[in-house]
Amino acid sequence: MAISAPKAATTAPGPRGLPVVGSALDLLRDFLGTTTEGRKTYGDVVRYVAGPPGPMRIIAYGIAHPDGIQQVLAGNADRYAKQDAAYNEIRALVGNGLLTSEGEVWRRQKRLIQPLFTHSRVNGYVDRMAQESAELVGRWDSMRQKDGTVDLHSEMTRFSLRVVCRALFGTDVDQIVPVLKDNVPYLSKKAFTRSLAPVHIPHHWPTPGNLHTNRATQQVYDVVDGLIADRRADPGGRDDLLSLLLSAQDPEGGTGLSDEEVRDQALIFLLAGHETTATSLTFTLHLLGLHPEIQQKVREEAAQVLDDRLPNTADTRALAYTTMAIQEAMRLYPAVYAIPRLIVREDEIGGYTLPVGAVAAVSPWVTHRHPDFWDDPETFDPERFRPEKEKARHRYAYFPFGGGPRACIGQYFSMLETIVMTPVLVRAFEFDSPPGPVKLFTGITLRPDQPMPCRITPHSPAGD
Ligand code: HEM
Repeated sequence: MAISAPKAATTAPGPRGLPVVGSALDLLRDFLGTTTEGRKTYGDVVRYVAGPPGPMRIIAYGIAHPDGIQQVLAGNADRYAKQDAAYNEIRALVGNGLLTSEGEVWRRQKRLIQPLFTHSRVNGYVDRMAQESAELVGRWDSMRQKDGTVDLHSEMTRFSLRVVCRALFGTDVDQIVPVLKDNVPYLSKKAFTRSLAPVHIPHHWPTPGNLHTNRATQQVYDVVDGLIADRRADPGGRDDLLSLLLSAQDPEGGTGLSDEEVRDQALIFLLAGHETTATSLTFTLHLLGLHPEIQQKVREEAAQVLDDRLPNTADTRALAYTTMAIQEAMRLYPAVYAIPRLIVREDEIGGYTLPVGAVAAVSPWVTHRHPDFWDDPETFDPERFRPEKEKARHRYAYFPFGGGPRACIGQYFSMLETIVMTPVLVRAFEFDSPPGPVKLFTGITLRPDQPMPCRITPHSPAGD
């Protein structure tokens, strides 16, 4: 179904919200509920007004139809910039890496970094992902002796940090994980709260909050700088991302990356690749724990493809049903639930004008539940991702990794990680999640706002 359009370009409809602050409080308190209701009430382009009149006021357009999403992320991407409040805060905290840079700086970084994320390169990390998965089975075996439940979210956060650190820094993972474990989530949360704060205190003012943030940033910088210095002194033929970043060459003849640029990229990979993947892993296991029949199909596939081996790259391609279950979990719980842009050149979507200076936001959360593209959208059903069904769907009805030139560079890495881990855990344990809604936290990324207890019992293969 194409996006419906009024006859002449006009202002999009939207809620009036409260006097003075408009929809600011609704969006802050319940972003997901407010924007989902917004689409239902006003349609595929919704205009939100947030904040008091004057320079602090934000006008934001929520775009829910895949045609409009394609226009923002791909077709007319040059009219939209990463200069909105959220990206400005991320940039202030972790610098100008591939996620945050723009224009010529981004193009040069992309030329240097893209070769590090080709499928064949990333396949080189499968063994480390599999070893970490096996280590987790052993860890859960010993934890389970005390109590039959594990907290999926804290366990998956630990796991994804270890995997991304092993890919980035190789064997130095035990040295760096303790420093990053609390600091990276802290910095991510800080970026989000600052981006929505009505008053912006400059970063260099010595407030307690700024001092804490600066300390967290400095600790992370120190450990990464130390690793870079060690690696420059003794490159030692290693193949982790840090070594590859240090030796990256611009195919168009420009200079390689300076130490500071290498550090910024490493931080961006940690920030962009750690919490997001943890959310996907958590909800994949949580949903399998709620749907024993789907869990059993994943287990049967693991038995058939892997027997009792750890997965290799070829296996990951054969784990088709597991992949569908993961994709479906990411439909319902997209870690990046909204993607904002500042409108820098006027555009028109669905017949509505999108003016310069306003924000355009596309939301996987909202569009992944759009009833024109998904039957019974709240139901967990991996069958939606059968190849023939995927082919028949609009490319932008499902976009957990964004799209267009700024699409996620870590998509294959994180999918591979989840496809490797899931069967290893599901063949070792039976998962039983408590029913009921999960309270969600919408920071820079989506994550549970509560522990995610899940009862695990060792699986005995005799029943298969
Ligand atoms: C489930 C896991 C992940 C999800 C859902 C996810 C999602 C996304 C999305 C939606 C974007 C586009 C943002 C925008 O257009 O504003 C993005 C960009 C990016 N992601 Fe991911 N990501 C994941 C994992 C990773 C991993 C593992 C890494 C790195 C190791 C990574 C690194 C990046 C980078 C560097 C960009 C910026 C690319 C560019 O602008 O050229 N992501 N990600």
